[in-house]
Amino acid sequence: MKFSTKAIHIGQEPDKETGAVIPPIYMTSTYAQEAPNQHKGYDYTRAGNPNFKNLEATLAALEQGKVATVFSSGIGATTALVSSMKQGDKVVISNDLYGGTYRLFSRVFSQFGIDFATVDTQNLGAVEAALSKAPKFIFLESPTNPLLRISDIEAIASMARNNKVMVVVDNTFATPYFQNPLTLGADFVMHSTTKYIGGHSDVIGGVVVTNHLEWKEKLDFARMAIGLNPSPFDNWMTTRGVKTLALRMEKHAENATKVADFLNKHPKVKKVYYPGLPDHPNHSIAKKQMSGFGGIVSVEFDLSLEQSMKAVSSFKLFTLAESLGGVESLVDHPASMTHASIPKEERDKNGLSDGLIRFSCGVEDSEDLIEDLENVLKNF
Ligand SMILES: Cc1ncc(COP(=O)(O)O)c(C=O)c1O
Repeated sequence: MKFSTKAIHIGQEPDKETGAVIPPIYMTSTYAQEAPNQHKGYDYTRAGNPNFKNLEATLAALEQGKVATVFSSGIGATTALVSSMKQGDKVVISNDLYGGTYRLFSRVFSQFGIDFATVDTQNLGAVEAALSKAPKFIFLESPTNPLLRISDIEAIASMARNNKVMVVVDNTFATPYFQNPLTLGADFVMHSTTKYIGGHSDVIGGVVVTNHLEWKEKLDFARMAIGLNPSPFDNWMTTRGVKTLALRMEKHAENATKVADFLNKHPKVKKVYYPGLPDHPNHSIAKKQMSGFGGIVSVEFDLSLEQSMKAVSSFKLFTLAESLGGVESLVDHPASMTHASIPKEERDKNGLSDGLIRFSCGVEDSEDLIEDLENVLKNF
């Protein structure tokens, strides 16, 4: 079965009782029992709900994995994985990650005695050295948020396997439509389903997919014990969104390519980051492991923090907002918004400048998006 057929049919059988083509929302906190612990497989929605199960079947199929667990958010998904660690355990994280993920390691889990070390996962020598220190996991994004850096997932997974380290890939930017980290050897793939999978900027959610069957129980346990469950309604909305993922991703990528080409030629632009551009430093690895390059374009301008903050407020179609991956185009200033939780010296060290602006290209008509960019750039 191909991608869109899976997205529409797996986990989406018509309701057995009524024939409803769309499975209903099981908006319930609890379930009737015939006698203590005698029930139809569900006892309390923090522990499970038919809507969770449906979306898990869909997302596992799309990521070519065996099992999935859905969560209240992408951060909830990461929390569940990290909660399997103990005091003194180590984790290696990529040096270019969503700010909230970095904050989770640096300000929350570090307090519980979980050591984290950052590494440039584009540099395989540095990865090898970090893996030799016996971390439990290596956690990376590819492409990264916001610099669209690409790591060689297959090479890292192979080194990690030799060192008995588990690989987690945050696949939020690529989506399962363009990249399947499990087929490249990763142990876990996670998403902020808030982004492209939901696709309409109206729901928050997360998922972990894996082929390690024993982890299904651990992840379900973490969700139940920590309270990381989504609401059945949010979950149903994500199920609705994911059905059009392929159609949307084609258009997101087409628009991003046009926006990246336009900006790459613009005299006021210092640098364009888009893995689809032939001059992207990891373009060849991107081409090897991805079937398309996604909808995000980050651009460096010669602007101070204040000038960038003013510039991002002047677009008409690119709405100034955190998040990405919805049908509508958004613009973000990472240094003051999504990545402000990373200390400035750490941002500077990793190349995340104050003049960096991130565009999430929606599925509008590209001519209108480029006109919006042209009008704002005139005044830079
Ligand atoms: C790449 C990436 N991973 C994880 C997250 C966290 O997801 P959520 O906001 O759904 O908790 C985000 C949020 O922006 C993200 O961009």
